[in-house]
Amino acid sequence: MDRKKITIVGAGNIGATLALLLARRETADITLIDINEGVAKGKALDIMEASPILGFNAHVVGTGNYEDTANSDVVVITAGFPRKPGMSRDDLLFKNYEVVKSVSEKIREYSPEAFVIVVTNPLDAMTYTALKITGFPKERVMGMAGVLDSARFAYFISEKTGVSVENINAFVIGGHGDDMVPLRKFTTVAGLPVSEFLSKEELEEVIDRTRFAGGEIVQLLKTGSAFYAPAASILEMVLSILWNKRKVLSASVYLDGEIGEYYGASGLCVGVPIVLGKDGVEEIIKLDLTEQEWKEWKRSVESVRSLIEKLPL
Ligand code: APR
Repeated sequence: MDRKKITIVGAGNIGATLALLLARRETADITLIDINEGVAKGKALDIMEASPILGFNAHVVGTGNYEDTANSDVVVITAGFPRKPGMSRDDLLFKNYEVVKSVSEKIREYSPEAFVIVVTNPLDAMTYTALKITGFPKERVMGMAGVLDSARFAYFISEKTGVSVENINAFVIGGHGDDMVPLRKFTTVAGLPVSEFLSKEELEEVIDRTRFAGGEIVQLLKTGSAFYAPAASILEMVLSILWNKRKVLSASVYLDGEIGEYYGASGLCVGVPIVLGKDGVEEIIKLDLTEQEWKEWKRSVESVRSLIEKLPL
């Protein structure tokens, strides 16, 4: 059987961390591509030199040439500029639009059957850009944000309750911005409502920290943004597709209004619960939102829309 092939565009902090995580799981062979060819080649070689110790058989190659990415099963776009302190994700809009546009043109040319996972910020607008420029079916293009936001939410709940992270199920939908929508009702500790473990005030504290969790890391690092948890989140999505796990995850996908009054939104990409399997976005799950969540959702969708409207697409 042929080995699967994953291309990671951008061999920076997230791209290289993801390459190592994927290689350790022997998920597929990996091509790391970067405008800085030396960085892609150097990090790929460094990872391969770890393989005898860690004991993995995946091949990781670095390149600056898109021909080496041909016929990938999955392409992850991490290329772009990260946030600096004081910069919002939206400040990155036009700089990263040009990057994602040129990368998407190459994906369309070299890997026309690929699933595309977008990581570059501002996430929802960049996912929309990749969808439009590749022209791929909407089931094959998705943005990674909800898995990360949900993981941060889960970690903070675990920290506050003192209960293992393995027992926490947390869910965040909406745009990947400060007005993301953490879902209180769908967040559980060992299957029980989180409200049994945290007071209302404690939960709101956790939610606030979740909204600004990306910024908290940027403030600490000073020279870039988070990469370990983002890379782990992408791994989760890649495995759900390649192993046909059909996990329910939050991801930014194209909504065309077909799921009715709760989501209402159409003509843009934003985070919703999906079933992710071998055909990509196999289902979009409709939830009963509370009035407060519904309001937050609408606000979040409007801020995503205002960004997308600025793009020359
Ligand atoms: N083609 C290929 N690679 C590119 C291109 C391009 N057109 N433009 C930039 N790159 C590369 C850079 O050379 C760099 O190696 O993308 C890489 C980005 O890596 P980092 O700066 O380390 O950024 P990272 O932390 O990995 O984040 C990547 O994800 O979370 C978002 O906002 C973040 O948009 C950023 C992206």
